[in-house]
Amino acid sequence: MRKTIGLFAAATLVLTLSACSGGAAGGGGGAHKSLDQLVVGFAQVGAESGWRTANTKDIQDSFKAANIKLQFSDAQQKQENQIKAIRSYIQQGVDYIAFSPVVQTGWDAVLNEAKAANIPVILTDRAVDSKDTSLYKTFLGSDFIAEGKKAGDWLVEQYKGSSDPVSVVQLEGTTGSAPAIDRGTGFADAIKANPNIKVVASQTGDFTRAGGKQVMEAMLKSQPKIDVVYAHNDDMGLGAIEAIEAAGKVPGKDIKIITVDGVKDGMTALANGKINFIVECSPLLGKQLIDTITKLNNGETVPQRIVTEETTFTQDQAKEALPNRKY
Ligand code: AHR
Repeated sequence: MRKTIGLFAAATLVLTLSACSGGAAGGGGGAHKSLDQLVVGFAQVGAESGWRTANTKDIQDSFKAANIKLQFSDAQQKQENQIKAIRSYIQQGVDYIAFSPVVQTGWDAVLNEAKAANIPVILTDRAVDSKDTSLYKTFLGSDFIAEGKKAGDWLVEQYKGSSDPVSVVQLEGTTGSAPAIDRGTGFADAIKANPNIKVVASQTGDFTRAGGKQVMEAMLKSQPKIDVVYAHNDDMGLGAIEAIEAAGKVPGKDIKIITVDGVKDGMTALANGKINFIVECSPLLGKQLIDTITKLNNGETVPQRIVTEETTFTQDQAKEALPNRKY
C-alpha cells in the first residue's frame, strides 16, 4: 500500500513539473490563460511617419481596451534593435511576440529562437522573406503590391490616349522593406504597357518627410523634366511638396503627386489640391492583432495571411472623407 502511494506521488510530481516547465518555456502561446494574464511583446519599426505614429497609437489603445499586457519597443528603423528587442521578449518568456519587420531579410535565426522557446510570432504590417512559414503564425497587413498597382493604374488612366512622354520620379521607402519593394513592383507592373510613362529617377527617402524633401530637392536639380512624383508614403510626398514649392513650382499642377497611406496630413494636402491621388494603407491593425491573439489563445487556428481592406482617394473623395478620418 505504502509502495502504491509512493508511486502515485512520484507520478503526480512528474506531471506537475512538466506542466510548469511548459509554462516557463515561453508560455506555449499562453493557451488556457485568460487575456488579462497574457504578456505580448511588440517590436515596432520606429516613428518614421504619420502612418507609424497612428499604427503605434492604435496598437497601444487596442491592448489597453482588451486588458492585455503589452511590452512595446521602438527600433528606430534599425533591424539590429528589433532583433535585440525580440531576444529580450524571448528571455522574458512572453506569451506572444508581434512585430513589423523593418526589412524583409535576415529574420530566420531569431524566429527559430522564438519557435524553440515555443512563443508564437505574429507579423503585422510588413512581411519577412523566410521560406519556413512555420516560423510565424500569420501575417496581417496590407497588400503592398496591390497598392503600387493602384497608384500606377491611376496614372495610366490620367494619360490615356496620349503618347506624350511622361517623366516620373519615385521616392522609395526604406531600402529592403516590404512596402518599398512591393509598391515599386506593383507600380512598375501597372505602367509597363505604356512605354511613354517612364520612371526617370528613383531613390529612397526612408519613409520620412525630411528624406522626401532632400531627395526631391536633388531630383529637381538633376532632372530636366518631372511630370509626376510617385512617393511610397504620404510623408515623403509632403516633403516633396516643400521642395517643389521652394523651387517655385506648383505641386498638384506643374507636377502631379501620387502617394500611399492616407494619413490626415496627406489627405489635407490632397483636399487642398497639392496631392493628386492617394492609395490608402490602413495603420489600424490593433483590433486584428487582438482578434488573432484571442483566437490563438483559445486554441483556434488562424489563416496564414490576413489582408487589410483598403481604398483609394481622389481630391473630391478626400474632402468628403477628411471630417471623419481617424488618423
Ligand atoms: O509599412 C507601412 C509603411 O511604413 C507606411 O506606408 C509608411 O508610411 C510607414 O513608414
